[in-house]
Order: sequence, then C-alpha cells, then structure tokens
Amino acid sequence: MAEQTGAKGSAGSAAERSGDQGGVFGRVPLVERPAVDPEAFKAVMASFAASVTVITTVDAGGQPHALTATAFTSLSKRPPLCLVCVDQRARAHAVIRRERRFAVNILNQDQAELSAHFATSLDDKFDGVEWAAGEVTGCPLLPGALAWMECRLFAEHAGGDHDIFIGELVKTGASAGAPLVYFRGAYAELSES
Ligand SMILES: Cc1cc2nc3c(=O)[nH]c(=O)nc-3n(C[C@H](O)[C@H](O)[C@H](O)COP(=O)(O)O)c2cc1C
Repeated sequence: MAEQTGAKGSAGSAAERSGDQGGVFGRVPLVERPAVDPEAFKAVMASFAASVTVITTVDAGGQPHALTATAFTSLSKRPPLCLVCVDQRARAHAVIRRERRFAVNILNQDQAELSAHFATSLDDKFDGVEWAAGEVTGCPLLPGALAWMECRLFAEHAGGDHDIFIGELVKTGASAGAPLVYFRGAYAELSES
C-alpha cells in the first residue's frame, strides 16, 4: 500500500517538517540564546497591538479593586474560558485569588482616560467613577464599555512575575462601538478603511 503523505500523516515538530535545522527560527539550544532584558522585552512587545481592558474584582467587605490590563485573551469555547495575566504586585491580584472572581471590561475607544486612571496607584480608584455591580459576581462593570464578562476564577498558573488567571464566563454583555487599542506605548483607534 502506498505510504500516506500530507499534513495529517506527517509527524514531528514544525522545524522538522520544514527541514529547518537552525538559524534564527531553528532549534538553537536555550543556553546559547542571547538574553532578552526587560527593556528589550518591553520594546518588542510594544509592536503587539492590544485591546485595552479594565479587570475588576471586589473584596469580602464589598470594596472594589481594579487594574488596566492588555494581557487578556480568550481561551476555550467549552467551557467558556478567558485568561488575564496579572502582576503579582498589583493590589487586585491578591483579591482575585482570595475571592475567586473578576470581571473584564473591554474599553470603548472613547475610554482612554479610564484606562489611564485604572493604571495608576490611587488608593480608591472607584472614587468618582461610575460603575455597577455585576449580577452574578458583584464585580464592577463600567458603563460605556464595549463588552464585559463576569468570571469565576477557574484556574491560576504561575508565569514569572505575573500570574495567569483563567476565568470561566458566567455572564456577559456587549454594545456597539469600537475598541480602545494600545500600540507602541500609545492609545490608538481602529481605522475605518
Ligand atoms: C495599557 C496598559 C496595559 C497594562 N496591562 C497590564 C497587564 O496586562 N497586566 C498587569 O498586571 N498590569 C498591566 N498594566 C499595569 C497596571 O494597570 C498598573 O500597574 C496598575 O497600577 C496596577 O494596579 P495597582 O496600582 O492598584 O496595584 C497595564 C497598564 C497599562 C497603561
């Protein structure tokens, strides 16, 4: 019988399949890789355009906490999961771990001020900010956000100086509009054409 070929039948790594034996995208041993320092990391990640979110949570005493975050993505359809990477030093970090709940607010393009506000270290970030408690989790939802999702903490994983919080979506909402985008250290809007 003729040997089966094609994408489904082939085995091995992408590098093996492509015949790549080294070089920039090849299998260079870890120890030989040049170190990427935090500034170089920051500089290269600046080329990754990301939609801006505000991650909120609420502590046992009903006090809301939040931070601006772009390290957010969808993860799974069944069950519906998303993830956000949160700095271990962020004040909301411990609250999310303890209370096992958070909400993601995807900001609208006219909410750059809110993004900057929630990225500051103000003591009470919700002083003077309009918000509503999510029906299921009680986590703050920001009026005017492009979309929001209430999440129960599903799992957490370590990732260097951040932790990855995986949330299971328990209630969501969305409205018309366009997203606030962060690109090369500045806020941007999606262009129409
Ligand atoms: C555009 C933007 C994106 C950010 N993305 C993240 C992120 O994904 N994860 C994170 O932990 N901090 C992120 N930060 C930083 C936090 O918002 C900031 O450190 C915040 O002040 C932390 O909250 P705290 O001061 O209450 O601890 C981002 C800041 C900005 C301006």
